[in-house]
Amino acid sequence: MAWLKDKILAMLRNAEDYVSGQEMCNHLGVSRTAVWKTMNQLKEEGYEIEAVSNKGYCLRVCPDVVTDYEIKSRLKVGGFLKEVYSFDTIDSTNSYAKKVAMSEEDVPFLVIADSQQAGRGRRGRSWSSKKGEGIFMSLVVKPSIPPEDAPKLTLLTALAITKALEKVAKVTPMIKWPNDLILGQKKVCGILTEMSSEMDYIHYVVIGMGINVHGQAFEDEVKDVATSLWLQGRKGLHRSDLVSAIVEAFETYYNQFISTKTLDAFVEEYNARLIHKEKQVRVQTKDGEREGIAHGIDAQGNLIVEFEDGTTEAIISGEVSVRGLYGYV
Ligand code: BTN
Repeated sequence: MAWLKDKILAMLRNAEDYVSGQEMCNHLGVSRTAVWKTMNQLKEEGYEIEAVSNKGYCLRVCPDVVTDYEIKSRLKVGGFLKEVYSFDTIDSTNSYAKKVAMSEEDVPFLVIADSQQAGRGRRGRSWSSKKGEGIFMSLVVKPSIPPEDAPKLTLLTALAITKALEKVAKVTPMIKWPNDLILGQKKVCGILTEMSSEMDYIHYVVIGMGINVHGQAFEDEVKDVATSLWLQGRKGLHRSDLVSAIVEAFETYYNQFISTKTLDAFVEEYNARLIHKEKQVRVQTKDGEREGIAHGIDAQGNLIVEFEDGTTEAIISGEVSVRGLYGYV
């Protein structure tokens, strides 16, 4: 009866007042015993559900969990998101998502874990994924766009996460092109987009998101460049609140992008968030380093940089890494 959990949580969450046991049975087509057993399981997991005779049940406190039923109870599953797979721990949500994506037709779906044993970052780096400290999730889509347009999805994801963090955590992150989110001059979120495609056809795109939520300290290698929402003064957040807000914001950006097939409508918003806009940057390519002024992204998602020799180039995401002159951003 695991499926009952998200239905019961959704009923409790959406109710203005108490929900009677009979109402649940009628609505869900299950027995009183099934409702009662599920309530007890939820209570054991940390949900505080008040039961008052002649009135019914009321959800008072939710634990900070990222189970599939917690997330499904907040979203209309079967709407945009078709399925949620959750794990206490996993090697990497991106790796799991790729395995499922090969056979699963019904997209988008979400893979989320409370911790990762081998969380992966960009450029072969690892991603710190300690139990309960962050959001480690991967969204799988199968868009009908040319493979060369897939990096645009990463830019849109950065915007969606920014929106969600603003709404739920009341912070205003900036974006370090192409897809790091910055708070207090440090990285709070990273995105790893992976794709399986033919020359002209995308099989699937996995958008992996890592958000530092409750972490209070980072490993020596990253402590100068990493931060968390907790370290930025946002304590007591519920990760599932953030996850549902991210999925909802992503749905809006994604649907608009897929119907127009262009970033035109998003360039201004992205550039308003760009931490390097009109600032001096150092562009590191495989041929060496050059300095210039970043003027923002164009409709292709490339970063326009005016170099010291007066030339202006559109820097293609993935080819280079951009740094400010002083430190990480
Ligand atoms: C970066 O290097 O900035 C990207 C980090 C992406 C980390 C996330 S956590 C969830 C998903 N699964 C992974 O193994 N990596 C991504």
